[in-house]
Amino acid sequence: MKTNIKIVVIGGTGLIGTKLVNNLRQQGHNVVAASPSSGVNTVTGEGLAKSLSGAQVVVDVANAPSWEDKAVLDFFETSSRNLLAAVAAAGVKHHVALSVVGTDRLLASGYFRAKMAQEKLIKTAQIPYTIVRATQFFEFTGGIAKEATEGATVRLPSALMQPIAADDVAAALADVAVNKPMNGTLEIAGPEQIRQDELVRQFFGASGDQRKVITDARARYYGLDVNDQSLVPGTSPRLGTIRFSEWLSHNIPPQSAPTSNRSAKVATIAALLLCGIGVLALSSRYAAADDSTNGKEAKVTPLFSKDLTDFPGKEGLMCMIEYPPGSTDPIHRHNAHGFIYVLEGSIVMQVKGGKEVTLTPGQTFYEGPEDVHVIGRNASQTKPAKFVVVFLKNKGAPVLEPVK
Ligand SMILES: NC(=O)c1ccc[n+]([C@@H]2O[C@H](COP(=O)([O-])OP(=O)(O)OC[C@H]3O[C@@H](n4cnc5c(N)ncnc54)[C@H](OP(=O)(O)O)[C@@H]3O)[C@@H](O)[C@H]2O)c1
Repeated sequence: MKTNIKIVVIGGTGLIGTKLVNNLRQQGHNVVAASPSSGVNTVTGEGLAKSLSGAQVVVDVANAPSWEDKAVLDFFETSSRNLLAAVAAAGVKHHVALSVVGTDRLLASGYFRAKMAQEKLIKTAQIPYTIVRATQFFEFTGGIAKEATEGATVRLPSALMQPIAADDVAAALADVAVNKPMNGTLEIAGPEQIRQDELVRQFFGASGDQRKVITDARARYYGLDVNDQSLVPGTSPRLGTIRFSEWLSHNIPPQSAPTSNRSAKVATIAALLLCGIGVLALSSRYAAADDSTNGKEAKVTPLFSKDLTDFPGKEGLMCMIEYPPGSTDPIHRHNAHGFIYVLEGSIVMQVKGGKEVTLTPGQTFYEGPEDVHVIGRNASQTKPAKFVVVFLKNKGAPVLEPVK
């Protein structure tokens, strides 16, 4: 095992990249977290030669911004060609890349054809290499659910999987990076097998997601027919140690069950907001007010969601809230930091223990994950009000919880 070497992590700001960079730095290596946001772009070549100067190892954990068939193939081909040329020019001694278990069995998908093209370029480049093929990350479960969602149901096959925590992936890559090139492929997977429908059911159970998982043998996985062999590793994978149940308990805060008609209504809001980008196409109407008291509905429009890759496990979600005249929210709290900016009209806000404030366009308000939002209403009985709220929250977690 090598110590104190220069290692460049391409995609070092991503989900795996961030964890890998931290891991290698803790081992005392000189690590460059390379990505477009740090001035290194493998598609254009910008900053590549400079970042690789003096490096002994490169680990490529970049991912394509678009998974459309042509775009993703262009990304992995161009990126790999540029990177391998720069790696050769800099005299780097070990090229490590992260790929996916079953890539060669899933070639009906444009994404996997692109990963296969990346693997082929690496294998033929005459540079010592190790390809690490990982199974699906636990962190990817929300994405699997989103892809299979139709309204309030999620239709999934029961194909076997053996998913792995991103922390275990990063640990395996950190180990591979400082050891000798295998000039071959290593498979890594989680410690347990689980069926895809059950994986998402457990994820929903832990997060309080109200969507119903329907097991359907004909349902596809990202457009692919999969069976019990498609997504699981071969006979001797290297296994991670983190179990899905343990990961859920650390990453997904448990939710309390709805306790009344009013809270059930708010729980519907939670279900809508819970899935982040999964609902972004929707302009969701929900009953923010207790109909029995005022019958006015607020309208929530999720606008935009983004994984915060430099804050692993966190995401941002921006929503627009429109209060009709006289609209009042039930008492609730958010599992999130909420930043409000008023656009139109006038709103009244108060968290428990705080002052009641009346806000007009251009004014802001903050509430934290522990705050109980006791007053949230339109100040006017005659004019509508509109505000934007940005939530910073745990990935996949509901953003709203009713309070009795
Ligand atoms: N999802 C799964 O379950 C799974 C399973 C097995 C293997 N994998 C593989 O794991 C790898 C990493 O996935 P991830 O989820 O960690 O990715 P991610 O969070 O989406 O991060 C992608 C990274 O790639 C960087 N990047 C994008 N375009 C780039 C460019 N032109 N030049 C250099 N860097 C660029 C991004 O930089 P910016 O932040 O600056 O945009 C970011 O750091 C992928 O190759 C994927 O195929 C995924």
